[in-house]
Amino acid sequence: MRCYLRALVTTCVLAAVFPPLCVLQKPAAAAPDARSLRTARRATPRGRGSHGAGERLDAKTSKDERMHLAVVACGPRLEETLVMLKSAVLFSTKPLHFHVFAEDHLHESFKDALDSWPAAVRLSFNFTTYPITFPRDNAVEWKKLFKPCASQRLFLPLILKDVDSVLYVDTDILFLHPVDEIWALLSHFDASHLAAMAPEHEEPRIGWYNRFARHPYYGATGVNSGVMLMNMTRIREKRFKNDMTSVKLRWKEMLMPLLQKYKLNITWGDQDLLNIIFNHNPESLYVFPCQWNYRPDHCIYGSNCQQAEQEGVFILHGNRGVYHDDKQPAFRAVYEAIQKYPFGENMASFLLQPLKVTLQSTTHTYCGRASHLFTRGLQHSVLSAQHAHRRQR
Ligand SMILES: *[C@@H]1O[C@H](CO)[C@@H](O)[C@H](O)[C@H]1NC(C)=O
Ligand SMILES: *[C@@H]1O[C@H](CO)[C@@H](O)[C@H](O)[C@H]1NC(C)=O
Ligand SMILES: *[C@@H]1O[C@H](CO)[C@@H](O)[C@H](O)[C@H]1NC(C)=O
Repeated sequence: MRCYLRALVTTCVLAAVFPPLCVLQKPAAAAPDARSLRTARRATPRGRGSHGAGERLDAKTSKDERMHLAVVACGPRLEETLVMLKSAVLFSTKPLHFHVFAEDHLHESFKDALDSWPAAVRLSFNFTTYPITFPRDNAVEWKKLFKPCASQRLFLPLILKDVDSVLYVDTDILFLHPVDEIWALLSHFDASHLAAMAPEHEEPRIGWYNRFARHPYYGATGVNSGVMLMNMTRIREKRFKNDMTSVKLRWKEMLMPLLQKYKLNITWGDQDLLNIIFNHNPESLYVFPCQWNYRPDHCIYGSNCQQAEQEGVFILHGNRGVYHDDKQPAFRAVYEAIQKYPFGENMASFLLQPLKVTLQSTTHTYCGRASHLFTRGLQHSVLSAQHAHRRQR
């Protein structure tokens, strides 16, 4: 028996009264406005308290319709991570499974926060919390070399052994479009692709890798690992070319020698290692455009992400702490608008409108002047969510 969010209004409200009526149904798109607190109170509370632990994530069942989202939250990142996850559930259509890697003392707070979301919202996702950890084999050896928090994402294919594919994101990203859209890129992979990322820079003159790196990197300016799709089935199977030995190595065989070789030369941790790996295996990487990983670098000296100019920003990445200081007020405005939006209220009036007002006071910055690209992405999502809601009623 499955009951996805998009079937919520028509189905799950009934299900609260007649549980057997909760059937699989596929309305065309999400209905976030339907996730009202009113609905929530009436809907079945069966999602609460269950955080999916112990649930089988069988890579072999092709029926797994869920989108898997992984995040690593260390240090003071709890609230930022929750706002990111909120942006994921607001616009997405297919059910989500969150894999939250966090320091042990944060686990209870994550569970409490996610389980406190309205029951109607709670039905659209499951989550599992994990300690920051290394794969069991060689854990001691791994520990000597890798800083756990900084390198956790490299180990996802080895830890989430039963998951086929995952979208890894940094805590400081915000979805302005449904997760479904980036998830769909997995099916655009050709036979050799096993991961997807955006370029680190559009503008080589301000690129970091091409000016400073002391190690190989992908393409002209390197890639940014803050938003990374991984087909982990393929990552686990592939033998990778490398510059340590003439023998091709599996993912789990390659990481440690790679770090040993480059540890004195890398600056940005695991992102640098990924750049080295895809430098040697360029055919394995699918590069998606910058609007899927839009950072202050794309607007700080004037707008340089062409695809965002044309279609708007799909995923915002507020790196270098810009959601929490005053350096890029336009980025902070988006973060705070999503943080403050009350679940269930009309998104046009309670999210988009107030954000547009705040953004007007950021036009003294280059990114503020490009911020119509942020709201264009958001507006599109809000409208299609409302449209879907109206159709459903
Ligand atoms: C969450 O897990 C429960 C129990 O395994 C399952 O019935 C439900 O469909 C899952 N929901 C989502 C959104 O994946
Ligand atoms: C990942 O790759 C495997 C092996 O090629 C394939 O069976 C699977 O469908 C792929 N997953 C997705 C989501 O495309
Ligand atoms: C590390 O950087 C130094 C200085 O640029 C360089 O000579 C050396 O070859 C680099 N090491 C590797 C493994 O590339």
